[in-house]
This record gives sequence, structure tokens and C-alpha cells, in this order.
Amino acid sequence: MYDNNPTLENIDRKIDPKLQGQVIEQFDNDAFAKKFYIESYGCAMNFSDSEIVASILAKEGYGSTRDMDKADLILVNTCSIREKAEETVRQRLSIFNKVKRKKPGTLIGVLGCMAERLKAKLLEEEKLVDIVVGPDAYRDLPTLISGAEDGDRGVNVLLSREETYADISPLRMGSNGVSAFISIMRGCDNMCSFCVVPFTRGRERSRDAFSIVAEAQDLFDQGFKEVTLLGQNVDSYKWENPGTKEVVTFADLLIMVAKVHPDLRIRFSTSHPKDITDEVLYAIRDYENICKYIHLPVQSGNSRVLKLMNRTYDREWYDQKVDRIYEIIPDCAISSDIICGFCSETEDEHKETLEVIKRSKYTLSYMFFYSERPGTLAARKYEDDIPLEVKKRRLSEVIEVQSAVSYASNQKDIGKTFKVLIEGDSKKSADDFKGRTSQFKTVIFPKTGNYKKGDYVNVTVQSGTSGSLKGIIAD
Ligand code: 5AD
Ligand code: SF4
Repeated sequence: MYDNNPTLENIDRKIDPKLQGQVIEQFDNDAFAKKFYIESYGCAMNFSDSEIVASILAKEGYGSTRDMDKADLILVNTCSIREKAEETVRQRLSIFNKVKRKKPGTLIGVLGCMAERLKAKLLEEEKLVDIVVGPDAYRDLPTLISGAEDGDRGVNVLLSREETYADISPLRMGSNGVSAFISIMRGCDNMCSFCVVPFTRGRERSRDAFSIVAEAQDLFDQGFKEVTLLGQNVDSYKWENPGTKEVVTFADLLIMVAKVHPDLRIRFSTSHPKDITDEVLYAIRDYENICKYIHLPVQSGNSRVLKLMNRTYDREWYDQKVDRIYEIIPDCAISSDIICGFCSETEDEHKETLEVIKRSKYTLSYMFFYSERPGTLAARKYEDDIPLEVKKRRLSEVIEVQSAVSYASNQKDIGKTFKVLIEGDSKKSADDFKGRTSQFKTVIFPKTGNYKKGDYVNVTVQSGTSGSLKGIIAD
């Protein structure tokens, strides 16, 4: 089950829940006077933020370590999207405090989405942490750290209307050297009734388009072959050039990044069905290096539930959007996020969710049962009235249907040849490579020839399960 997987869009992290809270590290050397240890939970945006934090800390003389016992500063970048994500962080904080008892003087900091909601509790009531820093306040970390070194517990959870960290070059950590995230916007103005994000990450703002292109160029120059443009709602990206007053839309931005180099693959996440335009679809169609893959969360297959969720589209509208995608980009893969057991959802409405999975032919979905979040519209307006067993049963039905649809999609790929970007060795065997197709499908294939990580190679698919494809190099 994937409930452990707090996606924005999850990119790479949903299949393997062990990657949750992945420790990121790049430089574990003695050039740095002090060491920090960081764990990140939640969505790709959070992982990307941790890379910004690492960059800010490096300027202060902090190098990262994988070993929390060696750290002067232990940080946890937190997620609030479901209750379970918050519980995990609390467990980690008690472990960090054991380290601190062994080594007094170690500072513990909470970053990210839990900061605002739990600041008072964590800092004052439970005295579990020394600093609490919200997603828009990372520039203040050095000041807060030096205050904490003098014994002042520090907090900054102010949300900003401007902060995009455009000028900070993220320190790529835990990366495979092939793909990297680029954050293109922050916050969310959508107000889906179930979602805590507008409260934890604030209002939507878009980053300077030229700084995004420069970051993509820099990554390509360093040898990266794939960038994923990240935002809570990338299709509402909009940036006005202060000089020319020209407006850059998401479709424009996609093309600008695609032009960096034909060998740089472009992905993006997440799209809101109400905002994705034909211009974006044409850009995907027309540029070979913009991946034929759209994460288009439906959340529910029923129009009444969608209205309660405040998604601003109904089922018919969503179906038409899916049809339009397949019409313009016939080889496009579509994936989704699904919430089971939202307030007052009936059995028949749940069945419509099973139907939308089949109709949309999702190649994969991130599936969750509803978890009420304090302060959200749904928590204020609706009763969380679906019993947990029912939510779990509906979730298992959703997983089962998705698994069958994924399997069928993968079976259809047998005999076809795909251009695959090699990401590294397969987990199971050093004799095999693991890579991805443009459609974001994982392909495992034996190492033949002189190919290496970061190369593109044509692979003919020979078999498939619901989770991946197997093949052989075709050329
Ligand atoms: N309960 C369960 N799932 C949620 N998501 C967001 N909020 C909740 C919640 N309160 C899911 C949505 C979203 C994904 C990132 O997480 O499916 O698209
Ligand atoms: Fe990402 Fe924050 Fe949302 Fe979690 S709550 S998915 S970390 S934006």
C-alpha cells in the first residue's frame, strides 16, 4: 500500500516507501568546521527545499553528514499532508533527542510544513526542538542557529508572497547525477477542501523564468540529463518579465527549458486538471525531450465528491481533458492521485473512482485514504464519517484496479522499442541497468555494449509486470 507516500506528485519516491525520509548527503569531508544531518519527508518539493537549505548551510561552514551522532545540527524537513506523516516525524524527534542527551550542545531543528502548526508545541511545551523554520524562512536559518547556540530557542514560520529562493543554487544531494528537481513556483491558491498545503506553504508565486533556465543549463553542463520542474500547481506558473512586461506561461517555460539541449529531458509535476492548457499539450507533443507523461490527479471519480473537495471540475470535464491529452499526444502516459473515503462518499461514488482509473488508463496512481487535517475547509465543514475499515477496504479496491490497469498497459508495451535514460544499476543485480521511458515507466535490461549511467539507449520490451518492464538493448 502506498499510503506512506506523501506525494506532491511523488516523482520517484512512491514505489519504495523506504525512500521516505531518505538521508541526503553530498560532502562528508572535513573541509567543513561543522556538520549537519538532515532527513526529508513528504513530497519532491520538500526534498528540493532540503537542497536549498544545504546550500544556505554550506555558506555558514556546515557540511552534511550521514551519521546523526556526528552532527552539530540535526534537521528534519517535515510534511503535514496526512496524519501518518506527522506521526513519523514525532518518532524521529524522540530519536534525535536521545542523540542530544548523549551529546549536549547538538541543535535540533524542524523545517517545512509542520513548522507553523506545531511550533508552540514542539518548542515550548515539549521542548523537543531548538529551532522551527517554515518553508519560506530558510534564509533566516543562520541567525536562528546562532541564537540557538546561545541558548535561545528560535522560530520563524512567516510565509512570504515573494520568496522563491531564485538566487540560491541548490546543493544537489542524494542525487543519482542523472536527474534533478528544479522548483519553479511555491505555494498554492487552489483551496482543495482536504488539503493543508495552502496553509503550510502559503500563496502561489512563480520564480524568475531566466533563473530556472539558467539552473537547467547549469545542471546539463554538470552532466545531468533530466530535470523535473516542480510546483504544487505547475500549470498556473506565470511570471512577468519586469523589463519587458512580457508574461511567461507554463507552456512558454517548458519550451524555454526544452531548448537548453535536446539531450536534457524535461518532466514536471503536478498539473491541476483545471489549469493544463492545449498550449502545454502542444509543447509536449512538439518537443521530443519534453516527456510524454502527465500527472493529472483526479482525486475522485464522482462529481458530487469532487464538488465537496472543491476541485472546480466535474467528472465529465475531467474525462474530456483526458480525451484531449490522448488526442493531441497519443503516446502520453497519465498518472493520478486518488483519495478514498472522503467525507460522505457512498459505495456507488467510490465505484465511479474505480471506473475513472479504467477509463483514463492511468499507468500508475498514488492512492491514499482520507486523513482529516486540522484547519482545512473539509475539517471545518464536513464530518469525517467514513469508518477507517471502510476507507481501507475502498483503498485496497482502488489499488487492485490500478494494479490491473497498470499491468494491461505494460503488457501492451511488449515488442515495442523505447528510448530509455539509464539511471544506474537495477536494485536486484549489478548485471542489469535500470532506466525510464519518456512515459516514466521503469525498464530493467541486461548491460550490453559500453553504455553507462546517463546514456540514452533504445530498449525493446520483452515482458512486463504491473510495476515495471523488462527488455533488451535494441541497438
Ligand atoms: N488525506 C489524504 N490524502 C491527501 N492528499 C492531500 N491531502 C490529503 C488528505 N487530507 C493527497 C492528494 C494529493 C496528494 C499529494 O496527497 O491525493 O494530490
Ligand atoms: Fe509537500 Fe508540505 Fe504537502 Fe507534505 S504537506 S506534500 S511536504 S507541500
